[in-house]
Amino acid sequence: MSASTRPDGGFLGSSPFNGQFPQTRLRRNRQSTWSRALTQENHLHVSNLIWPVFVIDGVNHEEEVASMPGVLRRTIDRLLPVLQEAESLGIPAVAIFPVTEPRLKDAEGTEAINPENLVCRTVRAIKQAGLSLGVICDVALDPYTSHGHDGILRNGVIVNDETVSRLCQQAVVQAQAGCDVIAPSDMMDGRIGAIRNALDEAQFQHVQLLSYAAKYASAFYGPFRDAVGSASQLGQGDKKTYQMNPANTDEAIREVAMDLAEGADMIMVKPGMPYLDIVHRVKTAFGVPTFAYQVSGEYSMIAGAAEKGWVNREQVMLESLLAFRRAGADGILTYFAVEAARRLKNIH
Ligand code: PBG
Repeated sequence: MSASTRPDGGFLGSSPFNGQFPQTRLRRNRQSTWSRALTQENHLHVSNLIWPVFVIDGVNHEEEVASMPGVLRRTIDRLLPVLQEAESLGIPAVAIFPVTEPRLKDAEGTEAINPENLVCRTVRAIKQAGLSLGVICDVALDPYTSHGHDGILRNGVIVNDETVSRLCQQAVVQAQAGCDVIAPSDMMDGRIGAIRNALDEAQFQHVQLLSYAAKYASAFYGPFRDAVGSASQLGQGDKKTYQMNPANTDEAIREVAMDLAEGADMIMVKPGMPYLDIVHRVKTAFGVPTFAYQVSGEYSMIAGAAEKGWVNREQVMLESLLAFRRAGADGILTYFAVEAARRLKNIH
């Protein structure tokens, strides 16, 4: 990251390298396309993109998510060709989110540990199709619970340790299906270490852990909850007893430190754009692979404003993704992944 590798440690303002006007004119380097390219500090590349996708049960069907114009929920057979395209574009990995039928939901999210559930069938189909992109699966119970929470609810409380054992089972089932990266997004305490042990005991030492370490209790997840159908279950509820307070930053550092100590291979900050200060601080403090999630509400704000003609969709998309890189993110989970990849490769 440029800030930490500067010889003066980043305090350019007070360094002798910084000249005075009129000898120094910062506009000189900006005057032509070639010069701007030469002096560009950060770059967005296709290999920085992770594509989150929604999968539904059934055959030969797809439907748009009402609150996310341009984002589709697809059956497995419809998903495979678009994943093939994503792979051909050079997108390294996808994150799979299942839409679970209400009749399969219960208070404890039992469907999460069914080896034949939709997400496991999807992962197996991707592997059987011979695709080589990385497959990331969330670990959390919210797609499967009748109340829409990420954990088991007892007497109005999300019980931590019992949830963690259920999450361990969920992680193993997903690893058995062929998932490459397990991404716990539930924010229970101690889940990274427990899941690492469970995976190792089941001979999945090679399966990577991407921890949603600093995940905030955010209203920006609204459209996602529509997309996976957990919004109606959650109702007026919120996730503030386990997801982080948006006011906090030191606490994000503690979360990341603990998850790394427990065996996380990669770290995620979520949401993205409103939390770039957290991305920057985490990357600077730990120097580990750090990802940020441009979440559903961020996508919808850009897509919605573009539909109204208020902003230029393509330009705002690329600027927003580049901003993640500038903040220090190694990669970005974004619903724009395929569109951005096409644009970066000049395919229209
Ligand atoms: C579930 C999960 C959520 C998202 C990813 N995994 C929603 C939530 O925590 O309520 C949000 C993604 C988005 O908004 O795009 N644990």
